[in-house]
Amino acid sequence: MTNIPFKNPIYITKPLLPDLKNVNKKLKEIWDSGWLTNFGAQHILLEKKLKKYLNVQHISLFNNGTNALMIAIKALNLTGEVITTPFTFPATPNSLTWNNITPVFCDIDDKTMNIDADKIEKLITPKTSAILAVHVFGTPCDVEKIQKIANKYKLKVIYDAAHAFGTEINGKGIGNFGDITMFSFHATKLFHTIEGGALTFNNKNLKEKISLLKNFGIKNEETILLPGINGKMNEVQAGIGLLVLDMMKKAKKTRKFIHETYEKHLKNMNGIRLLENKTNIEKSYQYFAIRINKKEFGVSRNKVYQQFKEYNIFTRKYFHPLCSEYQHYKHLQSNKNTNLPIAQKIGKEILCMPMHEGLSKKDIENICSILKSFKK
Ligand SMILES: Cc1ncc(COP(=O)(O)O)c(C=O)c1O
Repeated sequence: MTNIPFKNPIYITKPLLPDLKNVNKKLKEIWDSGWLTNFGAQHILLEKKLKKYLNVQHISLFNNGTNALMIAIKALNLTGEVITTPFTFPATPNSLTWNNITPVFCDIDDKTMNIDADKIEKLITPKTSAILAVHVFGTPCDVEKIQKIANKYKLKVIYDAAHAFGTEINGKGIGNFGDITMFSFHATKLFHTIEGGALTFNNKNLKEKISLLKNFGIKNEETILLPGINGKMNEVQAGIGLLVLDMMKKAKKTRKFIHETYEKHLKNMNGIRLLENKTNIEKSYQYFAIRINKKEFGVSRNKVYQQFKEYNIFTRKYFHPLCSEYQHYKHLQSNKNTNLPIAQKIGKEILCMPMHEGLSKKDIENICSILKSFKK
């Protein structure tokens, strides 16, 4: 195959766009109601449908995932230190910092790229109040081991499931683990509300506190109960969410096919490592991440990333740099290189490939063939 650059840019992601006719119809419905935000009909319906789709006991919608995460931290009264992963989006540790909590970075597992549950215990101090773990690229964390540690030391557990919409472990929705799970509904995610997010939880007592925290602490016209902020999802966001949710079945099927096509072409390429599949895990199919071993592939991840651009292919070094390398976390004791060898290694190897419904089988085959041509 002769490899030639794509005529149009191939981006890492593309938002799922409902038919404009349906969007206009939805907007008219919202306009006619005269209700634009504060828990209207669209919000109520989306909450109900998502609860069912995610197979969770309680859900609360938000204007974005980061606000949701910050409110989850508040709702659980976390303080002091929280053990988390350096291999994540800035929103994860920054939400702790905004709550005056010190993130303590724990190294990650070489297979799943999630927090390494075996390395959590040694980071626990009298100040530790919780574990904030991320289901990176939709692969579930070791939820059993993490819960055991949390029970032993009386810690809370929050999961950042921004990548894990629709992921299941043994048929159980990913939003059922730990004390609270956060989802992001940003436009780059599989399911989206343009911007948006949600918290899911099993403890019904959290429902009122979370509702108050995301609505200025207002209980009623006479009573403001606590210092809440504004985390509300509006009616247009919720309306778009309802339309996108209807597209989910087809979108997942297409993404599964793209995923399998990548796997077929890349699984035996020396120097390229893929995430493992497990029969008891239903994936989110949100990302397709590869790892490039410079020694075996002959070319570094950074070089591959640059070379792809020459072919009009835009991949992403997700997550690079590691959170522990940010200026505002450099001083932390936990980010010493010796504590995070796996995260450091994976941070140099990781590359997220284009993954969205607009890609054809031929596109994926071309991308894989171009990658192969870089090998030395
Ligand atoms: C792992 C992770 N956590 C949190 C967020 C933040 O979510 P949002 O953009 O909805 O605020 C994102 C991405 O956007 C993410 O990838």
